[in-house]
Amino acid sequence: LPPERFQRRLLAWFDQHGRHDLPWQQQRSPYRVWVSEIMLQQTQVATVIPYFERFMARFPDVASLAAADQDEVLHLWTGLGYYARGRNLHKAARVVVDQCDGEFPVHSLDEMAALPGIGRSTAGAIIAQSTGRRAVILDGNVKRVLARLHAVEGWPGRPAVERRLWALAEHYTPDERLVDFTQAMMDLGATLCRRGTPDCGRCPFEEVCVAHARGEEKRFPESKPR
Ligand code: ADE
Repeated sequence: LPPERFQRRLLAWFDQHGRHDLPWQQQRSPYRVWVSEIMLQQTQVATVIPYFERFMARFPDVASLAAADQDEVLHLWTGLGYYARGRNLHKAARVVVDQCDGEFPVHSLDEMAALPGIGRSTAGAIIAQSTGRRAVILDGNVKRVLARLHAVEGWPGRPAVERRLWALAEHYTPDERLVDFTQAMMDLGATLCRRGTPDCGRCPFEEVCVAHARGEEKRFPESKPR
């Protein structure tokens, strides 16, 4: 499917079936999108929402977070798990305040990705979602969508496989509607192109998905060889 048609189809699906009322989609800012993306790295949307709301009530901006004690940050994280995320969040807030004048470096993917806890995909998600500028994402959801769509063989932890998936992500990413496009890719992966029980019957790409055509959607992405 040519990228323009992929984008049009995905966005039409998103307009009808995507998530449009998540708390971090309101009053969008790099700070709010960043906190949400870190919380969402290993945790589902429904679990994250109340944590996100409490976090924003206590730390409404990066300055208040940077000024807090780490204990208080981790207290608000209790129950979310993966506490390194909370510690990195606090560390990154201090870097932004001390070294970036309190402004997230959304003009630079490299500077964003250098902040503690922010990899290349999260940096892209924050830039796209908070500025609407073109940035490519490849989180677990997007890897699954692309690995199935193209039946990409091999474990994505292998550099060659990861490179191929980044190239596909780059290929399909549009120049416009980046806020919606990135959310749509993650929503498709999270709600239809699920790991264990994909709902191919509702997927806008059912008839072009190579893994589905082979009846092998659950084999992709491949798991770590042992
Ligand atoms: N996983 C990571 N980021 C996400 C987002 N913005 N929406 C849904 N799932 C996500």
